[in-house]
Amino acid sequence: MKVRSASSPGKIILFGEHFVVYGKPAIVSAIDLRAKVKIQPTSEPQVKLSNGSTHNPAVKAAEYILQELKINLGLIIDIESTIPPSAGLGSSASISVASAAATSLLLLDRIDLDLVREAAFVGEKLVHFNPSGIDTSIALYGGSGLYTRAESLKPINISIDRLLVIDTGKTRKTGEMVKKVREFYEENKEKFKEILEEYDEILNSVLDSFKNRNLEDIGKLMLRNQELLREIGVSCEEIEKAIKTALDAGAYGAKLTGAGGGGCVVALIDEDRLEKAVSMISEKFKVYTPRLSAEGVREEKT
Ligand code: PMV
Repeated sequence: MKVRSASSPGKIILFGEHFVVYGKPAIVSAIDLRAKVKIQPTSEPQVKLSNGSTHNPAVKAAEYILQELKINLGLIIDIESTIPPSAGLGSSASISVASAAATSLLLLDRIDLDLVREAAFVGEKLVHFNPSGIDTSIALYGGSGLYTRAESLKPINISIDRLLVIDTGKTRKTGEMVKKVREFYEENKEKFKEILEEYDEILNSVLDSFKNRNLEDIGKLMLRNQELLREIGVSCEEIEKAIKTALDAGAYGAKLTGAGGGGCVVALIDEDRLEKAVSMISEKFKVYTPRLSAEGVREEKT
């Protein structure tokens, strides 16, 4: 058995993070920042990272596949990733998916998508609390789509090629943010219901705006979605500052992406204003300009 590698994309959630945990559809897109995972058998009995760590989603995902296939084997895992961790860009899901896919290649000589999805979900649970599965689905299939817990990912054309992604530099734990929203929900059930209804309206409007590529409207709807995220308590000073900076640089709209409490903000801007905006914003924050609808999991040359 030799070394096998796979890579998988990060993601941005354009609309509907947190609400997706409560059954609502979210709009998500794979980005061209990727995690690559290389796996090789070792004579030692354990599965671990090359730095010796075992507390990692990549390890859990690989162990799950070994268990399912009833194979007793030690593995060494190497991770190379351009996705910033704990920033809402799906780094841990991407690592889980790439690790599961590389393990599947090593043991079965193919990427068994069902097995990889199950294994990656187990990996995600290590860093998450009650994951909706949105991160692992988009890391697996790539592209852009509407994700629901009930029906998984349905591809849609979001008509946007590129976005500004601003890293607030504040890291946070997804599981803690999801728990915080659960507490808000328990204490404010009526209010939460109203918020979900308002989100339904935003979502319907945005699906229309994608059809005629109305960037101005999409930007306004991002700001409305951000208001709802603020109400459920997942925004913070750094996020609000990043949003204001993006709007000052000419963005149509901006909002947090992922769990919030820090992490990244996404902003929509005309391609011909992108370069100038990047130089303005990067005086204060680290900025990425990823291409959207990137390819899902794939084998890599080792
Ligand atoms: O892990 P993050 O920060 O990319 O956020 C995941 C999105 C949430 O809706 C907050 C949680 C979930 O499982 O859907």
